[in-house]
Amino acid sequence: WKTQPAEIFQSSQLVPVMVIEDLADAVPLAKALVAGGVKVLEVTLRTDCALAAIEAIAKEVPDALVGAGTVMNREQLDQVVAAGAQFAISPGASRDLLVAGREAPIPLIPGVASISEVMKGLELGYKEFKFFPAEASGGIAALKAFSGPLSDVVFCPTGGIGGHNYRDYLALPNVACVGGSWMAPTDKVRAKDWAGITAICKEALA
Ligand code: 3PG
Repeated sequence: WKTQPAEIFQSSQLVPVMVIEDLADAVPLAKALVAGGVKVLEVTLRTDCALAAIEAIAKEVPDALVGAGTVMNREQLDQVVAAGAQFAISPGASRDLLVAGREAPIPLIPGVASISEVMKGLELGYKEFKFFPAEASGGIAALKAFSGPLSDVVFCPTGGIGGHNYRDYLALPNVACVGGSWMAPTDKVRAKDWAGITAICKEALA
């Protein structure tokens, strides 16, 4: 792998979850986030133009580390590799996806919500996980409880995190970064308010 999962986790404390509805928004949105100090970007595969958006960002925003989110299976993993994604993130993990992730040319950050799921990932060599949906799965209290038995494991909690609670997550020793859509809110993207998005990131990192 060109970039190890640990490096991805260390490259940015904030990982915006980007839902791109209009391909023309991909590059300006990515540039606005990078200008705000946010370097690791997750483009979800939830819209038709997601793969094209990843391709455009990978080509035109070299300062970003662009990955694909909502990767559910081996086929999608292959598709995001072909689009130029530098990493992949999944909301959960099947055994087949976990195996595919170890064989892929880019790292996969599998989603987990329980200790058993982390243990399945550990068996295949995973150490970095997305904790999703973070708030609904026990939030800070769950991550604190995980740190006992899972001493070497590092998480990127995502889901229900925003300006009101991200600092509490980042303060945990087993949290490297937090993800969320609050850094790239749909209303601001639709309004093409790139300066507003840069401001959210700068404020969050201040
Ligand atoms: C994701 O796909 O990671 C979530 O939709 C992000 O959750 P949030 O919208 O609560 O930040």
